[in-house]
Amino acid sequence: MPAAVRDPVAAMTTLDPLRLQELLEREQARFAQLHPASRAAYEAGQRHYLYGAPSHWMRRWAGGFPVVVRSAQGTRVRCADGLEYVDFCLGDSGGMCGHGNPAITAAVAAQLAQGSTLMLPTEDAAWVGAELGRRFGLPYWGFTTSASDANRAAIRIARMITGRERVLVFNGCYHGSVEEAHVALGDHGEVVLRNGIHANAVDHARVSRVIEFNDVAALEAALAPGDVACVLAEPFMTNYGMIAPQPGFLDALRELTRRSGTLWIVDETHTLSQGPGGCTAHFGLQPDFFTVGKSVGGGVPVGLYGATEAVAQRLWAQVPKVNPVQVRQSAHLGFGGTLAGSALQVAAVRAVLEQVLTADAFARMTALAQELAARMRDVIAAHRLPWYVEQIGARVETMYAPQPPRNASDVKHGRDGTLEALLHVYFLNHGVLITPFHSMLLLCPASTAADVDRYVEVLEAFCAELARAAAA
Ligand SMILES: Cc1ncc(COP(=O)(O)O)c(C=O)c1O
Repeated sequence: MPAAVRDPVAAMTTLDPLRLQELLEREQARFAQLHPASRAAYEAGQRHYLYGAPSHWMRRWAGGFPVVVRSAQGTRVRCADGLEYVDFCLGDSGGMCGHGNPAITAAVAAQLAQGSTLMLPTEDAAWVGAELGRRFGLPYWGFTTSASDANRAAIRIARMITGRERVLVFNGCYHGSVEEAHVALGDHGEVVLRNGIHANAVDHARVSRVIEFNDVAALEAALAPGDVACVLAEPFMTNYGMIAPQPGFLDALRELTRRSGTLWIVDETHTLSQGPGGCTAHFGLQPDFFTVGKSVGGGVPVGLYGATEAVAQRLWAQVPKVNPVQVRQSAHLGFGGTLAGSALQVAAVRAVLEQVLTADAFARMTALAQELAARMRDVIAAHRLPWYVEQIGARVETMYAPQPPRNASDVKHGRDGTLEALLHVYFLNHGVLITPFHSMLLLCPASTAADVDRYVEVLEAFCAELARAAAA
């Protein structure tokens, strides 16, 4: 056998796509064999849902159909076939408090029992508002029912106060169902619809601009015409694999947005995993808006947008000769929805911030994530695979390239869809749930050393399987 085929690095990079496909089909067949009840329940549901399941995202699991869940507790999920999984997907961050968390369950149940949505604030509201300001550094907040809606609210205010229409995002981003952000860079630098997104009626050429992350020169050029209302950006990209900001990039982003009169919305829906104040506190960022959702509601649908004093003053100044109290009472028609800021949401957020995603909990989760990342790197190095492991706070991701990417194009060039699907279904078959869209792992306060051991064991077995396939 030629040496090149025996060398795992060379073998991995040239692993026969047909062999990978065979392995994938073998694992999918095993998945079907292990999950007859899930398959039957999913097929029954398919008759009633436009996208086969209550949410189209639920179809994205690599097994061919999703595991149908019977119950979930902490990091453990039990399916309709009676199998147990260790959950590192955690509802793609919505479950970052851990399933069935007792503090959240108690707070939400108590609030449900005494009125969940009243069109009136409860006494928890003042505590929550003060805590949001303390953690994230912005003084004024609004509730929505999703992170997507929080981004929409921030964009709308940015447009109102700048009088501009355009929104700038980075290639590979995802900010929820915000149409302006459903764009990617085409092969010739043009704005195209992001992969996998339904066509929409938005004129992206007019309202969207997209550039690569970490490209200061492109950012400067994109903001120079002075027509961008806001940059909507994660401080550390998480939706095309994880892409770190290069040293100085976020400073340049702040400086260039200020210079061009553009506002910066920092979307911390995923990067809240960095710590109690997200990346904003960790890196000392000074955004104009802060948005978050998913985990912050502890399972109750919540989105939040925060704004600076300067933004608030400009917003209130939009209605001249009316004092701020009256503007606050009149000018926000249509933001947030009827259930936004409900007693139930506010009680849930209070429980999350006060009792669950605390500084101590983040310290424990981060230490465990660091251990997981270190052990994954050891396994990958032992098998001489050309992969890289990224970690921020409680979030860890395998990237299928030897070096950290600078932007989404770097990630795209290194990706192998069959290999990733194989990894996902292999882990499913070995009792581990990982986020289906890429290879992101999230820890929660209930995550344990045993969960980490389990992941590392399965990774070891998977890498050994690949090495055998490469050597065959
Ligand atoms: C960074 C980011 N922002 C916003 C959202 C939208 O969240 P939701 O779908 O809960 O509105 C997502 C969803 O994945 C996200 O990753």
